Amino acid sequence: MGIPVNIPLLSGNELEYIKNCIETGWISSEGPNIKEFEDNFSSYIGVEHGIAVSNGTAALDVAIAALEIGPGDEVILPTFTIISPILQVIRSGATPVLVDSNPITWNMDVDQVINKINSKTKAIIAVHIYGLPVDLDPLVKICKERGIFLIEDAAEMHGQTYNGQMVGSFGDIATFSFYPNKHITTGEGGMVLTNNQKFAERCRKLRNLAFEPDKPRFVHYELGWNYRMTNLQAALGLAQLEKIDFHISRKREIGNLYQEGLKEIEGFQLPLDKTDYAENIYWIFGLIAETKELKDQTIELLNKNAIGTRPFFWCMHEQPVFQKMGLFKGENYPVAENMSRCGFYLPSGLGITYSEINLVLDILK
Ligand SMILES: Cc1ncc(COP(=O)(O)O)c(C=O)c1O
Repeated sequence: MGIPVNIPLLSGNELEYIKNCIETGWISSEGPNIKEFEDNFSSYIGVEHGIAVSNGTAALDVAIAALEIGPGDEVILPTFTIISPILQVIRSGATPVLVDSNPITWNMDVDQVINKINSKTKAIIAVHIYGLPVDLDPLVKICKERGIFLIEDAAEMHGQTYNGQMVGSFGDIATFSFYPNKHITTGEGGMVLTNNQKFAERCRKLRNLAFEPDKPRFVHYELGWNYRMTNLQAALGLAQLEKIDFHISRKREIGNLYQEGLKEIEGFQLPLDKTDYAENIYWIFGLIAETKELKDQTIELLNKNAIGTRPFFWCMHEQPVFQKMGLFKGENYPVAENMSRCGFYLPSGLGITYSEINLVLDILK
């Protein structure tokens, strides 16, 4: 059957909590699990308000809309990211401003972010990539000084810390994903976290078709979405959250086994295991080959042996959809381009077994 790129771990109270939804009939977003999951996850991260939504992309959409980002505003974010954080920036009419990546941490280059700030900069989206957080201190400082919003896309960072404080608690607003390849999953799902009551209320409204809590039902004053999470999804989330510490240590164990097994391999850059502010949480275990040919050959070898793999993200400035819109013409970001062309990742899901990891290592060696 091979080794899939991701197998989730559903080894706790998932079935019991889902069964309870069926038995009580609470299956929509009206059920009691939603608030409990919001409260439990937000207090785990150390943030006051949690707003559960249908996925991590939806969380970014409502977070960006809640900050009232729009035409005339600039938003700085990395070119090396999944497409999710840029979508609502573009749809809102704001201008996305891209930066390159740091070649060692694979996160956005903070010096470039600071150089691109100007009077139109309304927000910075710190997209934490693959397992290590963005270097947050300088961003928090400059955002405070200049009155700029800091948005943390922490979709891949549940339980990761920056200098001992939870990632997702630094920004004005932060977003998480609970897709099955995340440290905890709800099948599909996401959450917005914020300490700002006004932003929290706006997010709650925007995820629910922009119904006005204090006005007549079915009368709308702005455009919203139906991005609601269901009680069934939140049931999964509650059970997963009970096991989050184990999931994080298991991810680190998987990452360390790959690090140890591959430390003598030639021709590939391995992920950094730690910086002075964080230890890698290994959302995925990525490798960057020295050449595109080596990457292609390695992927072919893994495919031939039915071992799941995925290429790294493809840069935003090279996306056909944005080129068609006339965006990012003539822009180059060499570090991120190299990562996109030569990077790929190994099966890294929580459900992988020791013998499967050894098999991947044997084939790579
Ligand atoms: C950094 C980042 N942001 C956003 C998302 C989108 O999350 P979702 O797939 O839940 O929409 C992902 C998904 O993996 C991600 O890695």
